[in-house]
Amino acid sequence: MKLSEAQARHARLAEEIRRHDHAYYVQAQPTIGDQAYDKLYRQLLDLEQEFPSLVSPDSPSQRVGGSPVREFAPSTHLVPMLSLDNTYSKEEVVAFVNRVVKLLPGAKLGWIVEPKVDGLAVNLRYERGVFISGSTRGDGTTGDDITANLRTIRSIPTRLICGSGEPPKMLEVRGEVFLTKAGFEKINAERRASGEELFANARNAAAGSLKQLDPRIVARRPLDVVIYGLGRVETAGSQPAGQGALLEWLKGLGFKTPERTWTCVSPEELIEAIAELDAARKGFGYETDGAVIKLDSFAQREKAGFTSKAPRWAIAYKYASEQAQTRLRSITVQVGRTGALTPVAELEPVLLAGSTISRATLHNEDYIRDKDIRLGDMVTIEKAGEVIPAVVEVVADSRTGGEKKFQFPKTCPECGSKISRAGRGEDAGEDGSVWRCLNPDCPAQVRGRLEHWCSRGVMDIEGGGEVLVRQLASSGLVRDVADLYNLSLSALMGLERMGEKSAKNFLDGLELSKTRDSWRLLLGLGILHVGTGVSKALCRSHATIGDIFASSVDQLRNCEDVGEVIANSLVQWHGDPRNRELLKRLRAAGLNFQSSLFNPDAVAGIFAGQTFVLTGTLPTLKRDDAAARIEARGGKVSGSVSKKTSCVVAGEDAGSKLEKAIQFGVPVIDEAEFLRRCGS
Ligand code: IVH
Repeated sequence: MKLSEAQARHARLAEEIRRHDHAYYVQAQPTIGDQAYDKLYRQLLDLEQEFPSLVSPDSPSQRVGGSPVREFAPSTHLVPMLSLDNTYSKEEVVAFVNRVVKLLPGAKLGWIVEPKVDGLAVNLRYERGVFISGSTRGDGTTGDDITANLRTIRSIPTRLICGSGEPPKMLEVRGEVFLTKAGFEKINAERRASGEELFANARNAAAGSLKQLDPRIVARRPLDVVIYGLGRVETAGSQPAGQGALLEWLKGLGFKTPERTWTCVSPEELIEAIAELDAARKGFGYETDGAVIKLDSFAQREKAGFTSKAPRWAIAYKYASEQAQTRLRSITVQVGRTGALTPVAELEPVLLAGSTISRATLHNEDYIRDKDIRLGDMVTIEKAGEVIPAVVEVVADSRTGGEKKFQFPKTCPECGSKISRAGRGEDAGEDGSVWRCLNPDCPAQVRGRLEHWCSRGVMDIEGGGEVLVRQLASSGLVRDVADLYNLSLSALMGLERMGEKSAKNFLDGLELSKTRDSWRLLLGLGILHVGTGVSKALCRSHATIGDIFASSVDQLRNCEDVGEVIANSLVQWHGDPRNRELLKRLRAAGLNFQSSLFNPDAVAGIFAGQTFVLTGTLPTLKRDDAAARIEARGGKVSGSVSKKTSCVVAGEDAGSKLEKAIQFGVPVIDEAEFLRRCGS
């Protein structure tokens, strides 16, 4: 195929994929089946492999996330990103309307009410219809350039829909990036399974995701966006004159806009709209924390103007979050299966959002100190994003002086062993604020590991819940998961309140667990950072559990989804002779170490064991891109040529490295050959 022909075909395929993406991710009305979509996508990738010059930033192939960055570059906003003043009562809404009436005497005012999405504000810049860059709000003047992360969000169009019209020279749109309630639950379930600290709510999870320096991780987080405003606009074409028209215009360009809005002309109508939104928002797929009331007309907005922080023409009405106040009786410290110590507030029971709450999380030691939470305090508790209730603050004026400071334990409250808060992992939330018990035999950790092994998402062993696990552990019958497979009927029946039927059921469950997929076994080992997604990915690229543990950190990193932290965690785990012994015993007990997910075609390590040197300027690839391609396929990149170098990729103006390669007889290839090898 000629390049010109390939170009035309590429443009058609990209356009078609973008159309289906828009239908699926923006309109929620799929226009194609999964298989047919995958086929189109595959064709696009094949074409780009053959003609790498066709890869452009707005190609649908670029959604999977590029190379990680060390830090985000600052990005100064062309138009400042202001915030909104908050109100909490109907009276304040009326007062706001009256203020605007005074600013615009005699004008007929129209209002738009929109949901206030609880996410992170972003600015997206399009030049001649193509998504160029995007940033966070930051301090309102300068934010972080998070373009690569934003590109992974499928509801952000990489190209505007302009039909036969001319796209604006420059268009900046503003909106909110968020995680759906379901997406948030999913991420937390995964984090629970891999022993990582849970996100407190959907907003924190969205923030943690957007701040990831590795866009490939962001690509796997189900982030979404709603667009509701403008930044800088440069266009010869006509522009909307008000908010209602703007939302229609944005929708036409391919953006996802607020799913419901209200048009109002009086304070009474505004109050009614706020109440309707409050009822409706419980059914939304994402969290909202208020209503935004905006003057519709842009001309009127200009007259009303701004304060230094916020527009005078808009206001946020915040709904009361589901909070309650109660007394903090005591604090217990729980030890999880990874040894993490979590302080838990023991409360006087109180009704919150329909259920009686007597315990709430206090997150970690720093949280208690920073909020100065003391035993005996009246505290405000909140259901954060519908999950575990949390203590949010102390009711300051209810102190009597009798409250006592809480001493965080100096040793493990379960086993008395040493605890440490030396950084374990660098993932969001794991900032060294978590204390962990260092004793792997800690009874709480042992119980936690057994429960995890038996749980539904792991080995799915019926009957293996908290109560039985506690009995098995405290009776000394079981110290680790391999011991489960030595249990006899008589031993089980010797346990208190254990009938023959339940004992038999449990043994049947254990028997069945021997046939489970190997990814479940790997997940069940409870290795830090190895959750469901990672376990599956490892079992897709390795035929057996043995193969996984025979791999080096570098080899493991070739695997999709596995970064340095995870690879180190796996290698470290296997470095412990006790863990190796555990694997041996599990194998001897007849558990399945063979992966049914293994797909040799998916193994990307075609350059494993090879060292490449890049020199000179390559015609299309940037140095970092070429290096990323090598590393993604298991190869290494070195800065200097030696006899051991496998291959030198040389571009224009290659200097001494090329000479050395020739001197040492190291093969030299050009970019085209390099790309061919990458694709082979
Ligand atoms: S309009 C000049 N509309 O709320 C500021 N903001 O508390 C214009 N937000 O920073 C903002 N939903 O991050 C607007 N429908 C909506 C919104 C919304 C959420 C956020 C936004 C803003 C914050 C202000």
